[in-house]
Amino acid sequence: MTKQHLEESVAYLRQKGFGKPEIGIVLGTGLGKLVDEIENPVEAHYNHIPFFPLATVEFHTGKLIYGTIANKKVVVMQGRFHLYEGYDFMDVTYPIRVMHLLGIESLFISNAAGAINLDYKKGEMMLIEDHINLQGGSPLAFKNVAEFGDRFVDMIEPYDPKMRKHLKEIATREGIILKSGVYASVVGPQLETKAEYRMLKILGADAVGMSTVPEVIVANHLRLPIVAVSVLTDECDPDNLQPVNIQEIIEIAGSTEPNMIKLFIELIKEI
Ligand code: HPA
Repeated sequence: MTKQHLEESVAYLRQKGFGKPEIGIVLGTGLGKLVDEIENPVEAHYNHIPFFPLATVEFHTGKLIYGTIANKKVVVMQGRFHLYEGYDFMDVTYPIRVMHLLGIESLFISNAAGAINLDYKKGEMMLIEDHINLQGGSPLAFKNVAEFGDRFVDMIEPYDPKMRKHLKEIATREGIILKSGVYASVVGPQLETKAEYRMLKILGADAVGMSTVPEVIVANHLRLPIVAVSVLTDECDPDNLQPVNIQEIIEIAGSTEPNMIKLFIELIKEI
């Protein structure tokens, strides 16, 4: 990755009609419907954006959408790149750097995750307060990182306290259950063993998923305030583990999605 790559990606998007968005939004698995709320949308398919990671066949629907929600300009990633698809840390976070160069001043992230904390139930949401990176690498471990910012990025407060407070207030006001806790990221795509779920609990994780942490590290590198919400799609009880049902995970993400959309739209109005 070079600055010129990012500039060429942005030049393409400008010529497609992308202006300066205030907010970037990453939509997780089964959580794509927020795009229906975008007014005057302009779209760019990932495959057409210069230097974007080359999308796999099953990923041909991935696109970046620019438009307006609640009178604010936003850019939304419908579909994200995962390590488990064979992308590397640079691929997975390239779109975050592009959205930053487009002009975003804050970033909202959503994902589907398993509940490690058994007080948290599937169909509920969890505000990410902190994370544990178990993906075995970093999107900042590259040679010319210093051209883009600090190498030794502070992670003392990786998730913006002000936006977290806003989201908690919105959830209370709207009667939406929003737990909070620590998100552990794994590579996947296999789900965890019972022993791994036990380990994650001992480590202090409340939820586990296969995304988000690389994007959050890069957003911190860019000093971009972030807020992230997990939709809890399954309960990871090692003593009573059920076989994974991806269909059910996607269904639960879909049935919780209206609440997540509500949280994000209200937050867009308030910041
Ligand atoms: N583990 C990892 N990722 C997940 C899970 C899980 O149990 N559920 C949804 N995403």
